[in-house]
Amino acid sequence: MNKARLMKTVSESSVEMREMVMPNHTNPQNNIFGGVVMGWVDIAAAMVAARHSGKQVATVHISDIDFFAPIKVGYHVLIQASLNYVGTSSMVIGVKVTSENPYTGETRTTTKAYLTFVAMDDLGRPISVPGLIPETEDEKRRYENAKKRVEVKKQLSQSIVKR
Ligand SMILES: CC(C)(COP(=O)(O)OP(=O)(O)OC[C@H]1O[C@@H](n2cnc3c(N)ncnc32)[C@H](O)[C@@H]1OP(=O)(O)O)[C@@H](O)C(=O)NCCC(=O)NCCS
Repeated sequence: MNKARLMKTVSESSVEMREMVMPNHTNPQNNIFGGVVMGWVDIAAAMVAARHSGKQVATVHISDIDFFAPIKVGYHVLIQASLNYVGTSSMVIGVKVTSENPYTGETRTTTKAYLTFVAMDDLGRPISVPGLIPETEDEKRRYENAKKRVEVKKQLSQSIVKR
């Protein structure tokens, strides 16, 4: 008899973290260096994947990372990450980065990205993860969009010529 797959909601694994842009995070224009943002995005997404799966996880793919606006030194940075979609062992996490001017309270969405993580067993082999229950309208929209992105990537991989 098949064991029923454990199911978890999006809110059970969502992550929010805050950082402040320090001089060692900046580029020559005194704005945040993109690689620092990418590091924070990867960490937030990794925490979501680990919380959902309860396993060790590894990043296997990052897609559609967009930088909409620079973030100045001294500004605060909010990184919000939540699970959009799960396959068998893979998990697609959406991350939104918002800058906040701490003196005026003005906020701006500066980055969005989608990351795929794989859960692994103790030998580093892919292992199945709980299913996902999208509850809100936003969660359902993100689930459908992420599913399409996964399908498009599979089709693209099959259609392009690799050496
Ligand atoms: C994680 C790892 C062990 C998985 O091994 P693998 O041979 O790719 O495993 P599989 O082919 O069985 O794929 C496992 C799952 O990952 C997905 N996957 C693997 N590579 C992917 C990629 N590049 N993009 C999207 N999904 C991917 C597969 O579709 C599959 O999903 P499913 O289980 O939900 O159907 C291996 O890819 C790895 O070690 N990668 C390096 C990870 C790493 O070091 N990351 C740190 C960044 S440097």
